[in-house]
Amino acid sequence: MIRSKITGTGMYVPERVVTNHDLAQRMETSDEWIQQRSGIVERRHVDGTETPVDLAEHAARHALEAAGVGPDEIDGIVLATLSPQHEFPGTSFFLHHRLGVPEIPCFDLRAQCSGFLFSLATADAFIRSGQMRRVLVVGCEVHSTGLEFSTRGRDTAVLFGDGAGAVVLEANDGADDRSGLLAIRLHAQGEHAKRLWIEAPGSAFWPERITKQMMDEGRHFARMEGRFVFKHAVTRMPEVLREALDAAGTKLDDIDLFLFHQANLRINEFVASSLGIAPEKCPSNIERYGNCSAASIPMLLDEVVRGGRLRPGQLVAMTAFGSGFTWATAVVRW
Ligand code: COA
Repeated sequence: MIRSKITGTGMYVPERVVTNHDLAQRMETSDEWIQQRSGIVERRHVDGTETPVDLAEHAARHALEAAGVGPDEIDGIVLATLSPQHEFPGTSFFLHHRLGVPEIPCFDLRAQCSGFLFSLATADAFIRSGQMRRVLVVGCEVHSTGLEFSTRGRDTAVLFGDGAGAVVLEANDGADDRSGLLAIRLHAQGEHAKRLWIEAPGSAFWPERITKQMMDEGRHFARMEGRFVFKHAVTRMPEVLREALDAAGTKLDDIDLFLFHQANLRINEFVASSLGIAPEKCPSNIERYGNCSAASIPMLLDEVVRGGRLRPGQLVAMTAFGSGFTWATAVVRW
C-alpha cells in the first residue's frame, strides 16, 4: 500500500517584529489585554519589501533542502492561503515561476486556517492514487495588509501575523518503513461562512467588486464574531481529533505531540485540558508569530522538527479550526 510521508519541512517569517506595545500606539488596546485573551506577545509583518510569494519561496526552499530534493524533482504544488498575491492567478503560480519547476500542476486551495491540512489531504490523495510521487505543500499568509489597525478593527488586528510554512510529501512504499500519514479527517460548515470573513472585494457585488463606500465602511478588512468562533473551535477541535485518532487506530495517550492551529493560546489550552492532554505535549509559537492561518501548523511543525522535539517513530496529531467554518486533524507517524 502506498502511504505518503513528510520528508522535509521549512518555514519563513518576515524580519519586522510588531509587538503588542507597537499596536497599542495605533489603537485602543494593551499588551495585557492581548496576552490575557490570546497569549500573543508579538507577530511579524511585511515591511513593503516582501510579498506572499517571497515568504512562500523561502519556506519552500527550506523544505526542499531538508528533503534533499531539487525543485525539478517535485510533481505538483498545493498552496493554501486566504491572502493571495493577486486576485488571480493563485500565489502557487508565482511560486511555480520562482522555483523554476518544470510544467507540473500547481493550484491554490482556500480553506483558511485549516488550509494546510486540507492541502495535505489533497496531496496525500494524489500520492495514494499513484498520480504523483512528490508534492510540495505550502501554507502562506500576508495578513498585515488586510487588517484594520484602528480601534474599530482591534479585535482582529491584534491576532494575526504574516508567515509561511511548507512540507515535502512523498510516496513511502518501503515495506519496512511504518512512518507517514496514518489518517486525516476534514470537515466544513458553510452555514457560518460570514462569522469570520473578508467580505470585499467580491464578485457577489454588482456592478463592481468593491466601491469607495465599501472601503470607507471597512468591508475589505477581516471581521470576526470572536466569541462565536471561540465556542465552535473548542467543540470541533476535540471532535475531529478523536475521529482522526480512531481512523488511525491510535489512542490519545499514544500521541507524543499535538500541534494545534495557532489561533489563540486560550483555545488550545481549553482543548488540551478538556481532553486531559499534558501541556508539555502541546508546543506553541503563537506568542512570537500570532495567527498565521494556513501557515501556522507547518511553521510549528518545522520548529519542532528542527528543535529535535519530534523524532522518528513518534506520533504527532495536527488539528486546525478556522473560517468557513473548517476543521481538520492529521495523524502522522514521524
Ligand atoms: N484590545 C482591547 N479591547 C478589545 C480588543 C483589543 N484588541 N478587542 C476587543 N476588545 C474589547 C471589545 O470591544 C469588548 O469591549 P466591550 O465589552 O466594551 O464591548 C471587550 O474587549 C470584550 O470583547 P469580546 O469580544 O467579548 O472579548 P473576548 O473575551 O471574547 O475575546 C477574542 C476576544 C477575539 C480574543 C476571543 O473571542 C477569541 O479569541 N475568539 C476566537 C478568535 C480566533 O481564534 N479566531 C481565529 C480562528 S481561526
